[in-house]
Amino acid sequence: MADYFETDDITRDYDSAIMRRILSYLKPYKVIVAFALVALVVSTIGELLSPIIIRQSIDNVLMKSWYALDVSVNETDIEKEIGINSQDVVIENRVYVRTSRLGPLSVAQKNELADKGLFDGVEYYVFRIDPNDAAQNALRASRPELFVSQGQWAAISRDQLRALPAAEAAGLRRSDATDLSRYVIALLVVMALIFVGTFVMNYYSNLVSVKVMKDMRMQLFTHVLTRSMAFLSRQPVGRLVTRMTSDVETISEFFTDVLSALIKDGSIMIGSLAVLYVFDVRLALVVTASLPFVLITSDISRKKSRDAYRKQRLMTSKVNSYISEHLSGIEVVKLFGKEDASKNEFKRYDEQLKQANLGEMYVYATFRPIVDLLSTMTTIAVLGVGASFYLSHSISLGTLIAFVNLIGMVYSPIKDVSEKYVNLQSAMAGAERIFTLLDAKEMILDAPKIPMPSVVRGHIQFENVWFAYKEEEWVLKDISFTVEPGQMVAIVGYTGAGKTTITNLVTRFWDIQKGSIRIDGNDVRDLPLAGLRRSIQPVPQDVFLFSGTIAENIRLGTEVTEERMKLAAEAVHANEFIEALPNGYNTELSEGGSNLSQGQRQLLSFARVLAHDPAIIILDEATSSVDTETEKLIQRGIEGLLSGRTSIVIAHRLSTIRNADKIIVLAHGKIVETGTHDELIAAQDLYWNLYRLQNSGIVL
Ligand SMILES: Nc1ncnc2c1ncn2[C@@H]1O[C@H](COP(=O)(O)OP(=O)(O)OP(=O)(O)O)[C@@H](O)[C@H]1O
Ligand SMILES: [Mg+2]
Repeated sequence: MADYFETDDITRDYDSAIMRRILSYLKPYKVIVAFALVALVVSTIGELLSPIIIRQSIDNVLMKSWYALDVSVNETDIEKEIGINSQDVVIENRVYVRTSRLGPLSVAQKNELADKGLFDGVEYYVFRIDPNDAAQNALRASRPELFVSQGQWAAISRDQLRALPAAEAAGLRRSDATDLSRYVIALLVVMALIFVGTFVMNYYSNLVSVKVMKDMRMQLFTHVLTRSMAFLSRQPVGRLVTRMTSDVETISEFFTDVLSALIKDGSIMIGSLAVLYVFDVRLALVVTASLPFVLITSDISRKKSRDAYRKQRLMTSKVNSYISEHLSGIEVVKLFGKEDASKNEFKRYDEQLKQANLGEMYVYATFRPIVDLLSTMTTIAVLGVGASFYLSHSISLGTLIAFVNLIGMVYSPIKDVSEKYVNLQSAMAGAERIFTLLDAKEMILDAPKIPMPSVVRGHIQFENVWFAYKEEEWVLKDISFTVEPGQMVAIVGYTGAGKTTITNLVTRFWDIQKGSIRIDGNDVRDLPLAGLRRSIQPVPQDVFLFSGTIAENIRLGTEVTEERMKLAAEAVHANEFIEALPNGYNTELSEGGSNLSQGQRQLLSFARVLAHDPAIIILDEATSSVDTETEKLIQRGIEGLLSGRTSIVIAHRLSTIRNADKIIVLAHGKIVETGTHDELIAAQDLYWNLYRLQNSGIVL
């Protein structure tokens, strides 16, 4: 059961080599990536612009106000700091400057001005007198005591402006209303940009991820198909399936959720910090100073959630494997009365999964709110400091509001990044597993030295062949024999003697370590692999049928004509049962052909081999015992299959091979006897023993 489990690490720390390799999959889609990046930049700029626009609209329109300083301020050294010049409005000996201009002054400097009677701290609203504005003129005429004016300029204190009836105040501020609408339009444009940018970015990053996923799956599948049996026999199928499905998906998530989010979060964070510094260095420093606390907490949260996630994934895969293993082996579970035992075992895994889920929930429920709380607290601290700056007239209200917005923009990426980090790590782990598989070089070397002869006569020669599946554990030891064209040679021996291994070697599923195997005098390693496998076809011990129709299973996607398929089926007597089926050759087979009998499946596999018309057939007879009726059926099929071809028959039912030209008896990987049936019976050795055993009713 251990092989069913995904025991590899589910998350892995950042590794730049893996990252580079993941990113290399983007190469064919440079244009799409460029589109996505441009869209990302646009939406990021948009998001940074909106607090700036809001700040400008508050300071320049809504809260537009002036301080009045006595003109004699010109003689003080503070004048330069405020930057008073001839452009400033002067009304009745007082020069009016925008409140923001006093920002750079310290409290002491402001007190000094006030002490000298140059500054009264009252906010004014200054406007241009418009002779054509009837409402403005009427108001100034009816309440002259509210205004001071000189030339084309007039001023009113903001308190008095606020006390005016709404309609009259609005009349005075008509030009501000126009300005405000400009800001609103600008903000709308920016919002539209953010929307379009985000949409385009999401669209293209998803597009790229879908394409990359497709490429990766294709690459993995092709890679696995071309690996040697030596490699594949060590890989549990479930693991390979996971590589091509869920591991590929973690990488797709990396492209859609992680990569773009990290780039965007990073640029928004840096961008908003930069804007903060431009707005007010002191406040920006307060924000920067608070960052380490939030960073440390979110780092702890990140680690905790990674561990919880890892545990949860591990338990999920355990539960999944348990379910799938026990459902595929349900017959064994039922036959051996293991229902209760399985139930109890499952209960344990189920409980562990629950605990793992709770663990993950615990992290979400505690650490996330703590990070939230901390970032809120820093926001409050910054707001407190900011408010005191505002009250001492050193920042504008617009700046304070913009700060609140921007602080949110600095902190939310931190939270976001720690959430995305788990995804990043699982993408890293998934990628590492995928790349390890892709780096597996084991494949049967296909480097033909000679072209495949157009006609294969069917001469097979094994010359001092030594073979081991693993290191020096020899399964075949110094095997030599020949099969002349058109001959039928049988190989018999006890189970595990190495019979199937011989078939695997002729077709180069595995390569031998010593000696040589020759077909028509050519070493199999010198012939093209595809040609070799076309000329020599093994009929495997276990029939494998794909889902699909009977015809599809005989043809296996190659160009076998309908006629040849039917001839092949007839030759092995498979046509009889196929034609009796309601849909004939178009009958759909269920998974593994389970809607056919064992004998029928065998006949179908004979028809499949014959339809491909190989020069040499290697028949590895099924070991499972069948009833006499089926045996007769199969026997007839075999006769049809082998007639007129070179063949090696690995026989379990010795009746099959009575007429063989030569019988080779194999024991522990060595040839112990060779001869015809009659010769071997006369010798009264191993074959004779096997024969006697079988005739006493034991089928080997
Ligand atoms: N893929 C493999 N990897 C490692 N060892 C293997 C592999 N396949 C077979 N073996 C070993 O090689 C030996 C010969 O196996 P083989 O399948 O050739 O036996 P066989 O004669 O066909 O037996 P049977 O009559 O049961 O089909 C056995 O000891 C088996 O354990
Ligand atoms: Mg076998």
